[in-house]
Amino acid sequence: MEYTVDLFFNSRAFVEEELRGKTVVVIDVLRASSTILTALSYGAKGVVPIRDLSEAGPFTRNLDPTRFVMCGERDGVKIDGFHFGNSPLEFQPADMENKTVVLSTTNGTMAITRASLAKNLYIASLLNAGAVAEHLKTLDQDLFFICAGWKNRLSIEDILCAGYILNELFGGNLPESTRDGARVAHGLYVSCKDRITEVVQASNHASRLRDLNYSADIEYCCELNKFNLVPALREGIIK
Ligand code: MLT
Repeated sequence: MEYTVDLFFNSRAFVEEELRGKTVVVIDVLRASSTILTALSYGAKGVVPIRDLSEAGPFTRNLDPTRFVMCGERDGVKIDGFHFGNSPLEFQPADMENKTVVLSTTNGTMAITRASLAKNLYIASLLNAGAVAEHLKTLDQDLFFICAGWKNRLSIEDILCAGYILNELFGGNLPESTRDGARVAHGLYVSCKDRITEVVQASNHASRLRDLNYSADIEYCCELNKFNLVPALREGIIK
């Protein structure tokens, strides 16, 4: 069956209502999706994505630190008063085990919360792109990729990751009904598939992260298919 496959290039590039009842994959390779995957792989009970700090403030004020961990950044820098920033290499398994993580990031959690009307919302990065593609093969419905990007702009690493998933999903033969955004992502992947790490390292956000001394995060976030997890958002919690 032919179904729509489309892609939005940043976290504000879609109308929230348009995703109601749809299947959505949110991608923020550097770094929110990679951080979520790492926290869950370390045994976190779930991750609560928070859109902005005015929401986070009241929500986090009285949280029991033995049960909740607050993580987040603005412009790449750890939010004052939070336990951790948004670096997947910053925390250890013991920091996350059996904890609920509250996460607020510049673009990634904005994309997730704005897409929360979706029926199925999955979190993807290069760390689990293969597992996400395998899972999507079991569904037969319209599919929307949301590439978190950076402040209304696109981020090449997110689009490359979407292209990888599309290629795994359709074996290179995109359905005729594939929209332009998804075709561009697939084309990017085909032209760069042998130098994924190089392309990510050359991206604008990698350069911002290097300036903040997060070079090791970039390398880590390029590890293709490190995890076999497909986190999904249900009732406001990613598990
Ligand atoms: C974001 O949500 O914009 C990113 O994850 C930023 C970051 O690298 O921390």
